[in-house]
Amino acid sequence: MQSFVYHNPTKIIFGLGVLGQTGAEAAAHGKRALLVTGGGSIRRSGVYDTVRASLEAAGIEVVDFGGVEPNPKLSHLRQGIELAKTSGADLVIAAGGGSVMDEAKAIAAGACMDTDINDYLTGGALLSCALPVITVPTVAATGSEMNGVFVITNDETHVKNGMAHDLVRPKTSIMDPATTATIPLEYTILAAVDIVSHATEGTLTQADNDTPLQDGLTDTVVRTVMDCMHVLMATPTDLPARTNMMWASTLAWNGLCPAGIGTWAKPCHMLGHPISAMYDTLHGATLSIVTPAWMEHQAEIEPTRIARWGRSLFGVSEQDDRSAALVTASALRGWYRKLGAPLTFAEAGIEKPDLDGLAERSMSIARSKGEDSGWNTAGIRSVLERSLQ
Ligand code: NZQ
Ligand code: ZN
Repeated sequence: MQSFVYHNPTKIIFGLGVLGQTGAEAAAHGKRALLVTGGGSIRRSGVYDTVRASLEAAGIEVVDFGGVEPNPKLSHLRQGIELAKTSGADLVIAAGGGSVMDEAKAIAAGACMDTDINDYLTGGALLSCALPVITVPTVAATGSEMNGVFVITNDETHVKNGMAHDLVRPKTSIMDPATTATIPLEYTILAAVDIVSHATEGTLTQADNDTPLQDGLTDTVVRTVMDCMHVLMATPTDLPARTNMMWASTLAWNGLCPAGIGTWAKPCHMLGHPISAMYDTLHGATLSIVTPAWMEHQAEIEPTRIARWGRSLFGVSEQDDRSAALVTASALRGWYRKLGAPLTFAEAGIEKPDLDGLAERSMSIARSKGEDSGWNTAGIRSVLERSLQ
């Protein structure tokens, strides 16, 4: 096992009926909250009214900022930062999915900057402070509620990139699994793809298999998602399945699974983000397109970890690691197909992807993260080509 530092100070309040605790948590961090929301799902579900009532009961002044889109955009983020500054908000509360939570984190950072947030997103400025963030997640997918990551798309340059900073880690996340019961099945499927990717992909590139504890944790997260999806495919509102899936999504990407085993590097996300940036494809769909193709590519380089994973999760019986890794890629494709997640660009509605443009953008992400060893544009393009059919 490698050495590591694990520090995750986010307080989690989890369970049915916990949304009423939002006000008390917020009051510990501020008096005037920018309440960041998406396109309307939480107003329809009643989550907005419950959260707002709880904030007002705790004496918090609420400033509304709605309209965050899936794959949140820089232009909208700038409006939120402006509003946070002009309204004198001293706290940011996100009520919504990963897009809402990510944009809220970026607002919290930008509200403390004298320069444009894009200077930070492009590596030209540092963060020295951020407003406190509280999240009320309504989608079980990204794990944004318990990490410092936020992913923003520049809608002028069509570049999507993730940043991570401890300053924007949520102080508290208030997680009621019932809020996720209204998510349409088609989106739940993409969320499941995302969770499995978070738990595994960063742990699949190493050669070292001597991490039984982390492997057991990762495999349990993945098995839980698979079991929950088995139930949710038939009954999308099943509350026990929604509950287990929500906690699995948090544990998949709060740093525990890869601690001591690999890095936070996420090759499939590196390949997927440019697809969202260029075609506004939903995040999980980009992952189901590229992940099996990436596994086939990785099988030729370092198959050890993928082989272990496939043996544990899919009962792959091949003895040699390369063959086992290739069969694992096939088995994962089979699971995606059973769920109905897209496996090719065409199935995700992208008839003629610009593979050169996508490869260039992925390579640029790899360079910016210092993850460029082993990658070149031609190699990335060859992975993407596998996803054409
Ligand atoms: O905008 P509204 O009306 O809320 O509708 C949303 C949106 O259309 C809807 N929705 C949210 N909660 C709902 C609901 N519909 C019914 N019932 C509810 N309870 O769902 C749609 C998708 O929402 P979104 O927030 O985009 O989904 P998700 O949570 O999957 O977030 C995806 C974003 O997070 C980024 C992705 O790249 C993408 O931009 N990621 C963030 C990460 C992080 N912070 O750690 C890591 C991930 O790898 C990922 O990159
Ligand atoms: Zn993801």
